[in-house]
Amino acid sequence: RGKRAFIAGVADDNGYGWAIAKALAAAGADILVGTWVPALNIFETSLRRGKFDGSRRLPNGSLMEIVKVYPLDAVFDSPEDVPEDIRTNKRYAGSSNWTVKEVAESVKNDFGSIDILVHSLANGPEVTKPLLETSRKGYLAALSASSYSYISLLQHFLPIINPGGATISLTYIASERSIPGYGGGMSSAKAALESDTKVLAFEAGRKKQIRVNTISAGPLGSRAAKAIGFIEKMIEYSYTNAPLQKELLADEVGNTAAFLVSPLASAVTGSVVYVDNGLNTMGLAT
Ligand code: NAI
Repeated sequence: RGKRAFIAGVADDNGYGWAIAKALAAAGADILVGTWVPALNIFETSLRRGKFDGSRRLPNGSLMEIVKVYPLDAVFDSPEDVPEDIRTNKRYAGSSNWTVKEVAESVKNDFGSIDILVHSLANGPEVTKPLLETSRKGYLAALSASSYSYISLLQHFLPIINPGGATISLTYIASERSIPGYGGGMSSAKAALESDTKVLAFEAGRKKQIRVNTISAGPLGSRAAKAIGFIEKMIEYSYTNAPLQKELLADEVGNTAAFLVSPLASAVTGSVVYVDNGLNTMGLAT
């Protein structure tokens, strides 16, 4: 049997989640995705109308099939956590069962189990504000959407991840070096995610022999990154200063993710793996 992957954080064909889905599909996995509820409609419509067909093409010429799209809002663990304003919001009204617990239950009912869990989502409402000007609410929201969301997903999916399975998330070097502009507590959220990777690797490893790694990716002009405001500058900085002076392709992150969740990486867990053209190794801008 082929492997089954659940990828949380796919809502268009530009981001790392999409590229990871493609790399896993190319390797023969069945693809399930979790799409943020407010983005669900446009994503499903675009998929149906063939808007992504060009970017669905796999190396063997076939088109990636997404077996099922689940609405997901990873800042809510179960229906009791959903406040009134969200419940009655018209962008949420058309969907149901989108809290983390319910999505895990739906996947269990539909397919029984998965082998691979991917977390490719982040959100920080105050990301454009310096940390020094970030509110408590904004900081905690960044941690909730970008860090705890991973703990919650793993917590709820762990019972249905087959032994020997693997999970992966996406992080950014702003966790360990100061990147002016990556504000609102997003740098803190990535630091938490990387630390949690080590602790969760131990816990999930001992409990079910499941591996937990994170990819520290270089800059990509995704939808989320464009919202931060300085992504073009970061891409240019990387091009100028990294050991490898080339564009960083989302597919390169996808391929590394496919390796890390495969048996080829069977002894790799708790790691932060850099896929950034080597930029993280530089100590002097050139
Ligand atoms: P993206 O826009 O493709 O992915 C982010 C996704 O998160 C979107 O689909 C969005 O709808 C979803 N999302 C936001 N809040 C959510 C919630 N509460 N519940 C469920 N889904 C939610 O952008 P990108 O850049 O590919 O981001 C994927 C991951 O890669 C993120 O963790 C990001 O921090 C990380 N990353 C991105 C870099 C970049 O330069 N683009 C660099 C390093 C890491």
